[in-house]
Amino acid sequence: MIQVPFVKGKSERKKEKPEIPAHIAIIMDGNGRWAQRRKLPRAAGHRQGVESLRAMVEACLDLGVKILTVYAFSTENWKRPKEEVDILMKLLVEYLEKEIAELDRQGVRITPIGDINKLPAPAVRQLKKAVNQTKDNERLILNIALNYGGRAELVMAVKAIAELVKSGELAIDVITEEVVAAHLATAGLPDPDLLIRPSGEYRVSNFLLWQIAYTEFWITDTLWPDFRKEHLLEAIRAYQSRDRRFGGLRL
Ligand code: FPP
Repeated sequence: MIQVPFVKGKSERKKEKPEIPAHIAIIMDGNGRWAQRRKLPRAAGHRQGVESLRAMVEACLDLGVKILTVYAFSTENWKRPKEEVDILMKLLVEYLEKEIAELDRQGVRITPIGDINKLPAPAVRQLKKAVNQTKDNERLILNIALNYGGRAELVMAVKAIAELVKSGELAIDVITEEVVAAHLATAGLPDPDLLIRPSGEYRVSNFLLWQIAYTEFWITDTLWPDFRKEHLLEAIRAYQSRDRRFGGLRL
């Protein structure tokens, strides 16, 4: 029998030189359960969740991840008791106040995604300051989803495109996927390569609905406040073992 040498396809070649995902998205979930298991108030879970965010930014900088998009407050989170909403907003302000100088020094660009003008004034002020201070940084883009919902984002894009059609600036037959993507909060950025969901929930929860069409998912039972670099590395290793075909065939 003639031995045919194995010719490595693109994906195998990729595995020899595993790639770090350029864009990682995280649904920061499980703060409440983390606190409940320790008989602590939910705020303690959120506070510890900020530590995990801090650790993830550091890890992404280390690993050369270019974009980190985190889900901090959804359009549905307003349904929580006012005290919890207030605590989350306070933590956001504290995080920005405390971290901004170091984030800036490290080359992190902070970009909120979502309708931030509906947030309490101190949060809006801090966010605007952070955006302005870090706008020229290029090492890591940190998208913080705040008052964000994937459906709301799509509605906003549809309205903006409709306005362009109405004013005659855009013809209906040139509305393409690229045109829609250009009207989303993530315009100009590549879609996430990897979506991480801690706390063992198998849901997307209205996060980046358009952008995750071909994103690889990684779900872990680890709760967000316990999530550290070792978990991120585990997620990246799983990602590197996936065969991404984007609906095509493996060549
Ligand atoms: C979900 O856990 C988490 C949130 C709704 C908030 C995420 C916020 C942080 C990690 C901290 C604040 C963010 C910044 C940017 C400073 P959950 O409360 O739904 O947990 P549960 O499902 O266990 O109750």
